[in-house]
Amino acid sequence: MKKIKISPSILSADFSQLGNEIKRLEDGGADLIHVDVMDGHFVPNLTIGPPVIKRLRKFTKIPFDVHLMISPVHKYLEDYAEAGADIITIHPEATENLKESINLIKKLNKKVGVSLNPDTKIEIIKEYISDVELILVMSVYPGFGGQKFISEVISKIKILKQIKESNKFTFDIEVDGGINFSNSKEVIKAGANILVSGTTIFKENNGDIKKNIEILKAV
Ligand code: DX5
Ligand code: ZN
Repeated sequence: MKKIKISPSILSADFSQLGNEIKRLEDGGADLIHVDVMDGHFVPNLTIGPPVIKRLRKFTKIPFDVHLMISPVHKYLEDYAEAGADIITIHPEATENLKESINLIKKLNKKVGVSLNPDTKIEIIKEYISDVELILVMSVYPGFGGQKFISEVISKIKILKQIKESNKFTFDIEVDGGINFSNSKEVIKAGANILVSGTTIFKENNGDIKKNIEILKAV
């Protein structure tokens, strides 16, 4: 029975209380903290960077699952590793040389993830799939929380699961965007073992984080 992990996105948290919000997520049973970094260039939104992540690091020991929606990304990788990221996930379109960026993240002793937008084909990362620890399947176009789940990505998740199982790869399949109580089971069944959620975790059941995490994890 595969273990399902939940990585709540702090994009939906109270940005004036991010440290306390991270504590609430940890107390509520979060397995990872999904930190959405946006630069207003790769995506039409701007959030936080290394100085804030560095401050947030001391609020929890649970892994920071840092999703870099920035470009160019290669020259900033060291800053995010320094700031306390545990997993660094990049978009292939944001680097001139995906292999070099993957190698640098490994050299920095961090887990490396690559993210596929809804319209990005698996083919563009096929040759690197054996090098990464995580594949982040975007089920919304990146930039904002609270968007509607794009159900076409279910087939992409199933293909990734098939590649993983037939090659005995061990990468995590993480799905990010529009995850809620009515699609989480289907996403898990398709092959995801990590679910990212912001809106559902912070807003459902009057913001009962523990309850919302438990419901999302249920298979
Ligand atoms: C979107 C981010 C997602 C988003 C998820 O660009 O990568 O992590 O915050 O938020 P919800 O769960 O609200 O779709
Ligand atoms: Zn994200």
